[in-house]
Amino acid sequence: MERILSRWVDIPNLRDIEVYEAHGGYRALRKALFEMTPEEIIEEIKASNLRGRGGAAFPTGVKWSFIPRNSEKPVYVVCNADESEPGTFANRYQLENDPHGVIEGVLICCRAVNAHTAYIYLRGEFALQKRRLDEALAQARARGYIGRNIMGSNFDVEVYTHRGAGAYICGEETALLESLEGKRGYPRNRPPFPATYGAFGCPTVVNNVETLSNVPHIIARGAQWYRSIGPEKSPGPKLFCLSGHVNRPGLYELPMGFPLKDMIYREDLGGGILGGKKLKAVIPGGSSFPVFTAEEALKVNMDFESVRAAGSLMGTGGVIVMHEDTCMVDALRTIARFYHHESCGQCTPCREGCSWIEKLMIDLEEGRGTMEDLDRLIDIASNMEGNTICVLADSLAMPVKSFVPKFRDEFEEHVRLKRCPFKFSAKFVSFTSSERPSSHAVDGLSSS
Ligand SMILES: Cc1cc2nc3c(=O)[nH]c(=O)nc-3n(C[C@H](O)[C@H](O)[C@H](O)COP(=O)(O)O)c2cc1C
Ligand code: SF4
Repeated sequence: MERILSRWVDIPNLRDIEVYEAHGGYRALRKALFEMTPEEIIEEIKASNLRGRGGAAFPTGVKWSFIPRNSEKPVYVVCNADESEPGTFANRYQLENDPHGVIEGVLICCRAVNAHTAYIYLRGEFALQKRRLDEALAQARARGYIGRNIMGSNFDVEVYTHRGAGAYICGEETALLESLEGKRGYPRNRPPFPATYGAFGCPTVVNNVETLSNVPHIIARGAQWYRSIGPEKSPGPKLFCLSGHVNRPGLYELPMGFPLKDMIYREDLGGGILGGKKLKAVIPGGSSFPVFTAEEALKVNMDFESVRAAGSLMGTGGVIVMHEDTCMVDALRTIARFYHHESCGQCTPCREGCSWIEKLMIDLEEGRGTMEDLDRLIDIASNMEGNTICVLADSLAMPVKSFVPKFRDEFEEHVRLKRCPFKFSAKFVSFTSSERPSSHAVDGLSSS
């Protein structure tokens, strides 16, 4: 498959505007400004079936069509570059290596929804990515793609970068908007949704970096071409982040619908399980979603519908692989610690639930757990789901409700032995250790 989103691997210095232009850069923007009406742009994105890559898989064109036309208030476009989901590292490489691709997507979105101001909100740790974006924005401004009357089109647009302070919750779109406005990153109650009440109380589109990176390709090559890649309902190229106990962890551009088994085992992709061990489990979409057993994982294709039909969600495409020596109690404890730490604390079921789940997981892992605790975990998780302002609570409830029943024997063994059966064996590997001296995501970047 041709590399589309990650073509920066094949084109040195794509982040330089001259190289970007030489490879067709900003031609899609020209087409969007001079050959298409805003309505036609939205129809093309709708026809492409592009779905959001930030986790919720919402159809992008439909989202854009919710923005009121002829709004009396200003309209904003916000690019979500907060990327903090464990196991997810695609946006950072996109921003570092193809910032113009992201900016062009933002500008086309502005034209489609008649926004004259866009913000790119970056997670606090993305210092390099912000520098690369700011350099690219200065180049684009000097070339007349940003500012007043861009490319002589009578359309004005300004793009700003904004770095958060490093909080997972600020990736949730309404917490992000609060943070952008200078307030504490608390998610908002919905409705109203950002399409009518977003940044500064005005209509706002929020889209992920990878979602917007798809847009120039769709406008340049057409919705029909885009739909020819992958399955009908969730087509397109996808940047999969493969991590954990595989020989070749990395960022892999593959068509949607690609078999998870091939992603893990093919020599030119994951290269199989570390040390030739047996596969035990896979979380397919970042740490927020139900875990698959090895048997389930080896049957699933990686697109939104197939993963959902198999009982999990594809989320961001952050694939976390665990082999036979992984302690599943330890793995869930690590996940619980993360969500407990990142909960903003506004909702009682999330604040208390995350705290209790982490406490119970520590007890289980350290040999103080009881059989009743296993049912208690499910009970607490069930009270968290669907009862809160945002879905961070569900992001811990879903792993709990899959880890405990699917690996119940292992949980019970911790209770019976009053210790972790893995920890004192030479084979023990922590969920958070990689067992390899060093790895770098881009080393693995490949396409099928
Ligand atoms: C706790 C939480 C964290 C999130 N973090 C991110 C993130 O880092 N990046 C992102 O694009 N979306 C994140 N989302 C999803 C956003 O709320 C939103 O759905 C997304 O930015 C919309 O863009 P898309 O339609 O292009 O996917 C998060 C959601 C939740 C509940
Ligand atoms: S679910 Fe958790 S993170 Fe989300 S608003 Fe409520 S307390 Fe905050």
